[in-house]
Amino acid sequence: MNKKIAVIGAGNVGATTAQRLFEKNYSEIALIDIAEGLAEGKALDILQSGPILGLDNNIIGSTNYNITKDSDIVVITSGVARKPGMSRDDLLKINMNIVSEVTEKSLNQSPDALIIVVTNPLDAMAMKAYQVSGKKPNEVFGMAGVLDSARFTTFISKSENISVNSISANVLGGHGDTMVPLLNNSSIGGKSLNNSIEPNKLKSLVQRTKDGGAEIVNLLKTGSAFYAPSASIVKMVDAICSDSKTILPTTAYLSGEYGINDLYFGVSAKLGKSGIEEIIEYDLSEREKNDLIQSAEAVKETVDAMKKLS
Ligand code: LAC
Repeated sequence: MNKKIAVIGAGNVGATTAQRLFEKNYSEIALIDIAEGLAEGKALDILQSGPILGLDNNIIGSTNYNITKDSDIVVITSGVARKPGMSRDDLLKINMNIVSEVTEKSLNQSPDALIIVVTNPLDAMAMKAYQVSGKKPNEVFGMAGVLDSARFTTFISKSENISVNSISANVLGGHGDTMVPLLNNSSIGGKSLNNSIEPNKLKSLVQRTKDGGAEIVNLLKTGSAFYAPSASIVKMVDAICSDSKTILPTTAYLSGEYGINDLYFGVSAKLGKSGIEEIIEYDLSEREKNDLIQSAEAVKETVDAMKKLS
């Protein structure tokens, strides 16, 4: 693919994203990290897999944003994870400052780039990037729903012994405990989940999906998920770069959808070359509508906390 993608942050999520892009034949990848040598080393390592894979793509790493010049898409993965003794507000303050800085530095090099935010707390960080970017809301968005929906699909697939390809599972809302896995608008072979899976079993699949990120953190102990997150990022990048108009769960700026205003929040969106080209609004059950409003309240609280910290 003849597009330039900048990946900011060369930790597990950023570096694995860069690797996946390289292997999917993106011809120009720039990897940035503040740690001296980290992005440079990982990019060089990925580059040297080229002859083995038969790929002539370019990937370069640096601490200097000038290598990202004229990128089509900037993927922001930079940020810190919560460490023992650190409050949510501490984390919020550190990551909002990082996201502000890297957004500005990236846009100085690539003013026309679309921005995909991945840093947590995701919905608030997407809002922060949007605010500092001065870009249109459809040009800045976040990755969470593809991941949460993939987790939901995985659990349904394993529980029901059905191919992931025959399942269409949607998770909306904030990327956190309040996310809303949809039951009427998710289906197995076209039949709604509500009508396919016994209620108690379905409840436990929903709960495992909501706890999906924490389950991995508890297992890894020293970090969070990165294989499925990076695959999710690349799915969004593919939809944009190929202008495929694929509908994917995306953290998007809402202005009235589901009665929610001025908030970044997980919804289904059509992705194409201009970024978010349409937001799809589902007919939800009363319960799902209420759950979504509650989830929006939780995201608003984080956004309000961010305002107080700035
Ligand atoms: C997850 C975290 C990293 O869901 O957001 O895995």
